[in-house]
Amino acid sequence: MSESVIDQVAVEFREVMARVCTPVAVITAFDDARPHGTTVSAFTSLSMGPPMILVSLDRGSDLLAIVRRTGEFGVNVLAHDQADVAMRFARKGADKFDGIGWTESARVPRISGSAGWLACTTETLVDGGDHVVVLGNIVETGLTPAAPLTYHDRVFGTHRAFEAAS
Ligand SMILES: Cc1cc2nc3c(=O)[nH]c(=O)nc-3n(C[C@H](O)[C@H](O)[C@H](O)COP(=O)(O)O)c2cc1C
Repeated sequence: MSESVIDQVAVEFREVMARVCTPVAVITAFDDARPHGTTVSAFTSLSMGPPMILVSLDRGSDLLAIVRRTGEFGVNVLAHDQADVAMRFARKGADKFDGIGWTESARVPRISGSAGWLACTTETLVDGGDHVVVLGNIVETGLTPAAPLTYHDRVFGTHRAFEAAS
């Protein structure tokens, strides 16, 4: 492939992915006693029997380094009113949990008010380009009645069903 074709693929790949409406979750883990978290949109279910999910984390992610060490992580599926939480955990730093409500659940940090909760143990890590795919076994679940936070065309929103046909 010529360099201009490679450039076009890189640009259009980003634009195509911007058209994919994704969930927004914060992946959490304990760095010794300190809770840490990272915002992700590359998160999906993988298997029903056994129940498994996958998360794709940048190789440079501090959260990934912690999960490599501990083998345990939480998936906090954010609610529609948690865009500020998503932005808080989308930056670097050891202080991301300051001012955030959370509890410990199944040995990992659980963020209060999230629409959905999964506690996981790591099954395996798979290299994928500049990311690492983390395959997780689900060991605990939780639900809060709240509409989800979504990410589409580089902005946050939520999902709304079509009006029922009359
Ligand atoms: C909406 C949104 C979605 C994101 N999705 C991912 C993702 O799927 N995987 C990832 O590694 N980083 C993703 N990021 C970027 C990380 O949140 C960001 O790089 C963070 O600073 C990493 O923190 P850490 O080094 O403490 O793990 C996303 C950021 C935003 C705002």
